[in-house]
Amino acid sequence: MKRIAVMISGKGSNLQSLIDHIADGDLEAEIALVVSNRADAFGIERAKRAGIDVAVMPLEVVETGGGDRSAYDRKLADLVAAADPDLVVLAGWMLILGTDFLDRFPNRVINLHPAMPGAFPGTKAIARAYEAFQRGEIKRTGVMVHYVIPEVDAGPVVTMEPVPIYPDDTVDDLEERVHLVEHNLIVAAVDMVLRTLP
Ligand code: GRF
Repeated sequence: MKRIAVMISGKGSNLQSLIDHIADGDLEAEIALVVSNRADAFGIERAKRAGIDVAVMPLEVVETGGGDRSAYDRKLADLVAAADPDLVVLAGWMLILGTDFLDRFPNRVINLHPAMPGAFPGTKAIARAYEAFQRGEIKRTGVMVHYVIPEVDAGPVVTMEPVPIYPDDTVDDLEERVHLVEHNLIVAAVDMVLRTLP
């Protein structure tokens, strides 16, 4: 059984989707570890309820020791590598990972981003897409899963799916629609990538 490590920073609804699809037999994988950079992330609770090992590594662990980001990335990579994952899945992980982390898992780190490739990199991508729609700049948004490179929300695309925006939508309507698409796309993407691994 292929092992995945899931990295989160918040609610963990995409983690939950992975947990549920594995439990239903739709996804052949085992979540070996859930890592959060925030101790108050609700996703931690979801992992514990599913009996999955959890680790919390706030950025402060190195900052207080005077360490820099690369020190954090190395420490984080050691933690994740100890779980021996075939694939690392960033599902709402909100810190940028550098080469000190990525080089430890070459072509084995994927990220979920609630926008189409090249669009709205960074945070609040759904709200920014909504505003761009209101200004008439875009007709739709989307969701993508991509391999991670040391650049925000960029890297070769694994899969993507457009998401329509309707004139009478509120931003909450759009958020809900995007998250629904995410919950299925993250499962499909993990399945696709795991099938490519030896
Ligand atoms: C998702 O919209 C993801 O695309 C973005 O952060 C959000 C995390 O949601 N990077 P959740 O924590 O999985 O509910």
